[in-house]
Amino acid sequence: MFYSGKRNRFMLLLVLLILLQHLLWSSGASDKNKAMVQQLQRYGIIKSTKVAEVMDSIDRGLFVPSGASPYYDSPMPIGYNATISAPHMHASCLELLEKLLQPGMRALDVGSGTGYLTACFALMVGPEGRVVGVEHIPELVASSIENIKKSAAAPQLSDGSLNIHIADGREGWPELAPYDAIHVGAAAPQIPQALIEQLKPGGRMVIPVGTLSQELKVVDKKQDGSVSIRDETSVRYVPLTSKDAQLQGN
Ligand SMILES: C[S@@+](CC[C@H](N)C(=O)[O-])C[C@H]1O[C@@H](n2cnc3c(N)ncnc32)[C@H](O)[C@@H]1O
Repeated sequence: MFYSGKRNRFMLLLVLLILLQHLLWSSGASDKNKAMVQQLQRYGIIKSTKVAEVMDSIDRGLFVPSGASPYYDSPMPIGYNATISAPHMHASCLELLEKLLQPGMRALDVGSGTGYLTACFALMVGPEGRVVGVEHIPELVASSIENIKKSAAAPQLSDGSLNIHIADGREGWPELAPYDAIHVGAAAPQIPQALIEQLKPGGRMVIPVGTLSQELKVVDKKQDGSVSIRDETSVRYVPLTSKDAQLQGN
């Protein structure tokens, strides 16, 4: 009797422990978009309510190839020697650009890849703004458009305030310049002059620069046209290069 009572208590404890572990896992791990955003807020990477709202609205799971872990805070391969950047990098870039992604503003996303950040930009600037993504791998452009069509930014693809083009991003997209915000999602050996020229006075560009060692640079263009450049943090991005060099893995 004593033995079986002890065993029952042990079994109950075991069941409670398994339940607790399940609860902690499902609410604490980055297995859901909301949990991922909350985690980035807890770590102080997302500070802005607007950035949190936008990352809540654009489900990262729609942009990450099946089989990968969309909510895990790490870059994931997307084919063609490219990656979708880690959630904390997307969040950091949105934070750095937030003031230049106000409703009605104009943004350029160079190396738009999966279209995830381009879609976030579209929600930030709203339908009265303009967002252009430029990506040189045609297959990624096609899949990014399909991803965005399933996301909360789909209406902006339909109304034409969000476009993605197949082009060499080192040349920017002069047709819609100047831009309040420019984001570059691949590391350039040096800052392309065309991108500086396409930045609006008062605008900001966030760009990883370097080869073996890379720094995320914040480029601010003043009203008189002069630029100031500062290093934000050390990073690791795929190179901003030619399509051929990328496909050959150089
Ligand atoms: C880190 S990946 C994707 C970043 C994107 N923000 C995302 O998270 O999905 C960088 C992208 O830049 C693209 N890329 C590299 N060089 C480029 C160039 N010269 N012009 C346009 N896109 C380029 C790559 O094909 C790749 O999709």
